[in-house]
Order: sequence, then C-alpha cells, then structure tokens
Amino acid sequence: MDNIVALAKRRGFIFQSSEIYGGLNGFFDYGPLGSELKKNIRDCWWDDMVRRRDDVVGIETSIIMHPKVWEASGHVAGFTDPLVDCKVSKQRFRADQLFFAPVVVEGKTVGYVSALESENTAGELQAAAETFKRKKAIQGQLLPVQPRDMTEAQPDEVAQIPSPATGEPGSLTPPRAFNMMFETNVGAMRDASSVAYLRPETAQGMFVDFKNVVDTGRVKLPFGIAQVGKSFRNEITPRNFIFRSREFEQMEMEYFIHPEADWLACHEEWLKWCQDWLVSIGLPASHLSLHEHPKAKLAFYSRRTVDIMFRYPFGVQELWGIAARSDYDLKQHQQHSGVPQIYFDEATKQKVVPHVIEPAVGVDRILLAVLCAGYAEEEVKDEKGNVEKRTVLRLSPRIAPVKVAVLPLLKNKELLVARARELYGRLKRKYAVFYDDGGAIGRRYRRQDEIGTPWCVTIDFETIEKDGTFTLRERDSMQQKRITEAELFALLDEKVY
Ligand code: GAP
Repeated sequence: MDNIVALAKRRGFIFQSSEIYGGLNGFFDYGPLGSELKKNIRDCWWDDMVRRRDDVVGIETSIIMHPKVWEASGHVAGFTDPLVDCKVSKQRFRADQLFFAPVVVEGKTVGYVSALESENTAGELQAAAETFKRKKAIQGQLLPVQPRDMTEAQPDEVAQIPSPATGEPGSLTPPRAFNMMFETNVGAMRDASSVAYLRPETAQGMFVDFKNVVDTGRVKLPFGIAQVGKSFRNEITPRNFIFRSREFEQMEMEYFIHPEADWLACHEEWLKWCQDWLVSIGLPASHLSLHEHPKAKLAFYSRRTVDIMFRYPFGVQELWGIAARSDYDLKQHQQHSGVPQIYFDEATKQKVVPHVIEPAVGVDRILLAVLCAGYAEEEVKDEKGNVEKRTVLRLSPRIAPVKVAVLPLLKNKELLVARARELYGRLKRKYAVFYDDGGAIGRRYRRQDEIGTPWCVTIDFETIEKDGTFTLRERDSMQQKRITEAELFALLDEKVY
C-alpha cells in the first residue's frame, strides 16, 4: 500500500488536501493524472449507466437540500456510528472497529486487552493477552481469546478495557451514537432555524425529484434515475488513504419498479450488472466477492443489501452496495412533505408508490481499487539485456489517464519532430495524449508504464523515409509492432469507449 500511496503522490494522482498547512484528515486532492483517471471512471459509468440504456435518466441535484429531507429520510435520527471516547488521550474510536477480549486464565477473567480492527485483530488480541499474563506473572493456562467489539461491551466491562491510545483501562466511555452529517447554516442567521446539512448521500436527490422526473421525463416503470456527485460524512476514523474519507464522490442510481414486480430478481440483475461493469473497466474478477448483509445488520431503509467486496491490500472491503430500499424513501417523503409520490401505471391503471433497487458506489473507492489491482513491480530486460526494475500500472484503456504517448525517436531531427507533432495534434482532438521527447526511448517507456499509458508510438526514420508506419509499443506485453495511423485510430476506437 505504501508504494501505491507514494506513486500516487510522486506522479500527481492524489495529494493530501491543504498539505502546506499540514493536511486535513479525511480530505484529498486529485492532481493532473488523478483527476483525469477519476473523470474517466465517472464518464464510463455515466455512459454505460445512463446514455447507453433506454431505462435510466440522469440528474444533478444540489448538495445542500431542505433540512426536512434528512428528517424524512431518517438521517437526522439514524445516520450514526457508535463512538467511544478516550478521556485521557482525547482520541475517538468507532466502537465497531475497537475490539476487546477478556484474558481468561484457568477459567477466571484476570483482565482485558483491546486492539483496533486490522487484518489480524484476533492474533493481536491473543498476543496482547499473552503479554498481559506474562507481565502480571499469572500462572496457569491462558484460554484462546474471544474477540468482541465495543458495541457488545457490558457496562461493567467498559471500565476494565484498556484504551488503545494509552494501554490503560479506565478512560474509555460507553459507546454513544454520533451523527455523521456535517452541519452548516444557510443565510445570515446562525440559529436552529438556519441549520442545514451537507448531503451524506446523493440518493435523496433522486427521491425528492422523483415526481419532477416522472412529470417531465416521459419515463415508464421500471426506470432509473442516476446521479454522480460529492457526498460528505464526518467519519470518526477516516482511513486507508482515500478508502474512507470525509468528502467523497458517489455514483448512485435508484431503479424504480412496480410494487408487485419481482424485486429479488431485479436486485440480482443489478448485482450482476455492477460486477460486469467493474470487470469492464479493468478490475480482475478474482479480486471481487459478495457479502450479504445479515438481516439484523441491515441499514434502516433496506430489506436486502449485498455488497460487492474488493480485495484491497489492507483487506477485503466494501466497494459497491446494492440495496433493495422498498418504498421506504418515497413513502417517507410523501408523509413528511404532504405531496403524493405516486406513479400512474398506464398498463394496470393503478396508482402506485414504486419500490427501489439502489446500486450505490464511491468513485474514490473504485479509483483506489484500480490503482491497487493495476500496480506491479517487475524485473525486465532493457535493450542491452540488463535486468532492471519497472513499475507498471495496468489500467484499462477505458480509464487510463493518458491513452497514447507520442515519442519522436530523436528530438533534434526536424522531420521526426514535425511528423510526431502532426500525429499528436490529430490524436489530441479525440483522446488524452502525451508528447514526450526527453531522454532515451526506454526511459520514456518506463515513465509511461508508471502512469498506466496503454500504448506508446515512436516516430522513427522508417516513418519518414519508408512507409509512414510507426512503432506501437504495448504496455503490458512490452511488445512492439509497426502500425499505420489508420490502424492506430481503429485500435483506439475499439478499446477506448
Ligand atoms: N445511498 C446509499 C449509500 O450511500 P453507502 O453504503 O453508505 O450507501 C455507498 O455508500 C458507497 O459509497 C459505498 O459502497 C462506498 O463505495 C462509498 N462510500 C461510502 N462512504 C464512503 C467514505 N466515507 N469514503 C469513500 N467512499 C465512501
């Protein structure tokens, strides 16, 4: 992971926000290559989800909405994470990410150990229990630890669990609900009547505009409303680089279906669509898996949620949530606004409140997944047969920030440069292209490998003296072949869509 973060910074993909002031935890900036990559992910999703489908339309709603939206949606009351404070260090932890276990020797609890969630939480707790027993010189057999998280701690246990910040018991508070919405004030008055929220999900925009779209969009059930935009959550523990941040971007789609439609079948269809789409932008299917939320842990609006999980270097984590939200949201808004959220079904002549299937994904999480899956360090031979290290980002041509690098073999040969510039100009009209005439050709290839450019074309003497073809060098195989300009455009047309 450290290598990926270092590459992201070194090559201008991602920077810490406000870095010159020491950064702000949970906020990030995207540099020149990062913003191209992010835009490409967003555009691919929009093209496939909205433009290439007949049953989905797109909208863009405001980030700050009427505060009643969030009362109706349930976010004011229920959009919380369980929080535990350490009174000594003043650090805060998410209770469901802070694990503890009693240290049990010869059947008797002799103390407690704690650890923050990691790939090996149980192992860390076991090691801590052994250390505890050794330090206290307790004799007898230590039982294997039984980890639980702080949401499961009994009141009498809380005082005995050591804080991960200090290693000492007595400073942790019992878990309490912490609302993750960022508050702000609208207008000149700063009082309770002016409180508003930065949206914690884009989804509510689609529900609140449901009637507007139905009345103006000529949509027929089943149909979807999609949106891409920023969301904000005051996460207690932003972590794993851009995986969990406080400002992030979501791509969500609410698919409205007839209340009597087979919602389970529809949910399965979208689950498949989302997995196929991730593979289409280059994520290996072998890194994906599914996680069905247990009934007891479903979000307040959901009757079924399945997450598409991705194998990140820091563990298997949620990438895309596909939830069956029933008619929860439209009914809530109908009740709170007093405006009927009704669809008139011509086929059955029924007035219905549709049900919803919602695939919701974060752009930043996809971007991190493609960086992690694509990053590789390899040993390769240079032109002289010497072994050297190459860092390569195997990004799909669909999303790679630069599609082609144009390289004149020599920068001081006017004819080569002129031909390379011509080609560069023509390619640039349609694609993100990079012109590089600095240094040995092998080094130029390496620079492009590191930023994920799928192809390099080299303009050489054969180009100008013989048949006009140039060398096409492919990033992953590193193979080279002669190609005409028409063939290059055909290749790009096929692979970049
Ligand atoms: N409208 C439903 C909803 O927002 P969610 O599971 O809370 O559901 C959907 O969020 C997706 O948004 C997640 O699967 C994840 O990809 C992304 N996401 C959520 N919180 C995030 C955060 N703090 N940082 C980055 N991405 C986040």
